[in-house]
Amino acid sequence: MKTAQTIAEVRQIVSDARTDGATVGFAPTMGGLHEGHLSLIDAARGECDFVVVSIFVNPTQFAPGEDLSTYPRSIETDLAACEARGADLVFIPSVETMYPRQAVTSVTVSQLTETLCGRNRPTHFGGVCTVVAKLFNIVLPDKAFFGRKDYQQLVIVARMVEDLDIPVEIVPCAIIRETDGLAMSTRNQRLSPVNRSQAVALHEALQSAGDQIREFHRPARDIITAMQEYIQANAPNGEIDYIQIIDPQTLQDVETTDRSLLIALAVKFPEARLIDNMLLDSAGQPQ
Ligand code: PAJ
Repeated sequence: MKTAQTIAEVRQIVSDARTDGATVGFAPTMGGLHEGHLSLIDAARGECDFVVVSIFVNPTQFAPGEDLSTYPRSIETDLAACEARGADLVFIPSVETMYPRQAVTSVTVSQLTETLCGRNRPTHFGGVCTVVAKLFNIVLPDKAFFGRKDYQQLVIVARMVEDLDIPVEIVPCAIIRETDGLAMSTRNQRLSPVNRSQAVALHEALQSAGDQIREFHRPARDIITAMQEYIQANAPNGEIDYIQIIDPQTLQDVETTDRSLLIALAVKFPEARLIDNMLLDSAGQPQ
């Protein structure tokens, strides 16, 4: 496995790999790697000849007061994990490499960024889209692998690629969970033991919402109320940021539940804000 810190090195290594006709798969990350991230490398390994991972804690997607300075960083164990899973190249740029001067150009995706996480983090997805577009231009992958854990990010990036004719296929990957159901996240490690056990309520609330939808197709409003009550009772240290039931393509709220939909939530614990979601088909079956 190779590592590269400059854009020129990445371009050279990827172009050398391509001379043999190899296809290039890419998994962008912010490090603090866990099995969720590593499943993206596995998927890339399965579908592409040459696998590139990036590890870059992108400052422009954090607003002032968010957790940029305390975001978990573990580069040595991350590199070992990438190597063990068969990555060919890990790109670890510095902030100066990615942003050598104050940029005057950025990527803005409208509408899809105004709901869910975008409501309370209005600058977040602009930062994500801009850095992902830059990374795509540096790596020039055939396929890029994104987790459904960050469902809104996945939809926004897919739409950016379509709207800007970026020649990459976006491959969605399943949410990887801890054995008790909590969606894996780099931020989970910051939770106190009490809050870690309360955090299971997020997935439990999603599951019982899925059951209610499958059996009774209760209106979205009733499902959301039941989820709020469940989380308030079982995760009292968490403050609900949002619980929404939405159309999986447009991300607009839906009222009825006899259709394909996404249930998405964000809950803020004192140490970390957690997100999770569940995608259901029109029969209420998890996807
Ligand atoms: P990060 O939070 O490190 O996540 C990198 C990728 O791993 C994303 O595609 C995310 O959806 C996926 N991922 C995280 N946890 C997962 C889980 N439990 N199961 C499956 N996939 C999971 O998302 C970002 O970084 C950044 O916004 C980035 C795209 C790298 C741009 O800076």
